[in-house]
Amino acid sequence: MGNGTTPYDFLRGLPKAELHVHIEGTLEPELMFEIAERNELAIPHRNVAELRAAYEFANLQEFLDIYYEGAAVLQTERDFYDMTLDYLQRAAGDGVRRAEMFFDPQTHTERDIPFAVFMEGMHAATITGAREFGISSGLILCFLRHLPPESAMATFEASLPYRDMIIGVGLDSSEVGFPPTLFTDVYARAASEGLHRVAHAGEEGPPQYVWGALDALGAERIDHGVRSLEDPSLVARLAEEQVPLTVCPFSNVRLGGVARLEDHVLPRMLDAALNVSINSDDPAYFGGYVGDNYIDTQKALSLSDEAMVTIARNSIEATFLDKADKQVLLAELDDYIAAG
Ligand code: ADE
Ligand code: ZN
Repeated sequence: MGNGTTPYDFLRGLPKAELHVHIEGTLEPELMFEIAERNELAIPHRNVAELRAAYEFANLQEFLDIYYEGAAVLQTERDFYDMTLDYLQRAAGDGVRRAEMFFDPQTHTERDIPFAVFMEGMHAATITGAREFGISSGLILCFLRHLPPESAMATFEASLPYRDMIIGVGLDSSEVGFPPTLFTDVYARAASEGLHRVAHAGEEGPPQYVWGALDALGAERIDHGVRSLEDPSLVARLAEEQVPLTVCPFSNVRLGGVARLEDHVLPRMLDAALNVSINSDDPAYFGGYVGDNYIDTQKALSLSDEAMVTIARNSIEATFLDKADKQVLLAELDDYIAAG
């Protein structure tokens, strides 16, 4: 094991990218209470311990109900800045060299928080994060799929003054009943603005939604995609095109997709030569950040160090960095392994 350290340190220090993290899902209960207090808002829980105890979810919807409630404390530029910077600091401590973070504008605009507030707050944190922690980051604007496609289009148009602060668009929230094909027009519009495209698919929804994300939306990465394994022809396509799948092991367990980490399909995905990375999704709600996801997943599934290095390499290759910046991070990864 590397660098004269414990195996766990090896995984934490491994240079990696995080490609599937919802910034609102990084809001730790401590910061949520602090922000609620300074904004003079009530949280329907008495303290941090009581709030954490409420984080038991039978499925995606049960989680989303609590997650949107938590995000409602965010009101000022400073709130968004603090939340984003906290995440970047933790991620940098887990070896993350590049983070491509989701945010949900409709969760905020529906509460009359203007784009200027959350965009400026998050963007300022990305600059501080690069300066203070050496972590590169970008923002991906996600459409809430439980809201109408017209709302997604209006949201996209409202984002255009902040076009330069965004690297791409994504699709999240309640999956089943809201197929990707509903959002074809807004994805075409985003593509015409030169934005990257990703989409959640195959988390709770069927393989058909993964096909839809690829073919109707032009998604360059699939977020989750674990249910793809149910469709052999889809697996063949994903392997052939090496479509990156941003897998979130803790999330899949906490939202009931798999009973235990030991039952996760990640080894089957690796065996099928799929391009998988490991990510945290909503770490403040699911019991750990990306480093913990690497560590516990390796242990639960008896994955080799080589497999973990492949996963880290996949994560860097699947970023939306340009070729030269990717090469820098890949060289860092090679150096880290050579020094091990
Ligand atoms: N929003 C935040 N986390 C999500 C997830 N795991 N799936 C869909 N939407 C989300
Ligand atoms: Zn997600």
